[in-house]
Amino acid sequence: MKVTVVGAGNVGATCADVLAYKEIAKEIVLLDIKEGFAEGKALDIWQKAPIDMYDTKTIGVTNDYTQTADSDVVVITSGLPRKPGMTRDDLISTNAGIVQSVTENIIKYSPNAIIIVVSNPLDVMTYCAHINSKLSRNRVIGMAGILDTARYRAFLADEIGCSPKEIQAMLLGGHGDTMVPLPRYTTVGGIPVTELVSKEKLDAIVERTKVGGGELVKLIGTSAWYAPGSAAAQMVEAIIKDQRRILPVCVKLEGEYGINDCYLGVPVILGKNGVEKIIELKLNAEEMELLHNSRKHVKEVMNVLDSLMAKA
Ligand code: NAI
Ligand code: 2OP
Repeated sequence: MKVTVVGAGNVGATCADVLAYKEIAKEIVLLDIKEGFAEGKALDIWQKAPIDMYDTKTIGVTNDYTQTADSDVVVITSGLPRKPGMTRDDLISTNAGIVQSVTENIIKYSPNAIIIVVSNPLDVMTYCAHINSKLSRNRVIGMAGILDTARYRAFLADEIGCSPKEIQAMLLGGHGDTMVPLPRYTTVGGIPVTELVSKEKLDAIVERTKVGGGELVKLIGTSAWYAPGSAAAQMVEAIIKDQRRILPVCVKLEGEYGINDCYLGVPVILGKNGVEKIIELKLNAEEMELLHNSRKHVKEVMNVLDSLMAKA
């Protein structure tokens, strides 16, 4: 199986590294517009192979899409990251132009690929890639929910003093401060989280999760990459190995949860066709209201993209 990762920056290179050392793909192409940058990162990953004992071949290319031909999965990480004081939505006009041209190039050489978008603002960049690829909605999806859920699970593991492996959780909505972590669907070794963590503590963890990306931007001066890169690689693995894992993924909703024509994170079964099935949870009134509030925010940013495209 062949995987292309577009953007050899922090997230893209981390994703390629995880794909290589876990031997998720047989062949990885890392592509960037910066001359020699992807070549250098790919060479470094290949030189790590004898140390970490893997044989996935990783090559780097400067904007040469012929090398990406016949990729099974493509991860798009190209675009500006957030700097302190910026929201993800501030990135829209620059990143939309990048995601549009990258998608057109990818489709030209890999018309049957499954595309995983990582660039921000995530939900709207997934929309941008979807309309420019003209693929079916199950094949153009966004990574955010796995990262946001991982942050929530890590905070809970700290609070409970247990391994993060024990925390199972689900989260809905857009990749932003309106995301909807779901304590009612959170368990710790099979025990409802509400039996182990007080409401006050749980509320504080939910709020910290919502601004988890911003917390790291303040600390690092740019956005995070280890967890985002691994999260994207986990999606690639589920697809390539047809694992049919249940994961929160950004996908176009067409009536699910009473929402139409909007790209939001929801639980899906992820397998060889991308989204094999969208799972509709039975939400209570409060959860449904929070999800629809998130929809409203994402839709506003989708409208900004529509007006940018109309002007172009
Ligand atoms: P970065 O700046 O380290 O890397 C971005 C790379 O994209 C650069 O190497 C740049 O040369 C390349 N690039 C720009 N235009 C390109 C084009 N037309 N074709 C090919 N490559 C191009 O940024 P980083 O930290 O890797 O973040 C990448 C994106 O991912 C940002 O938009 C960031 O906000 C987003 N992100 C999304 C997350 C999520 O959960 N969905 C989590 C973390 C980051
Ligand atoms: C993150 O959540 C900024 O989307 C990026 O880390």
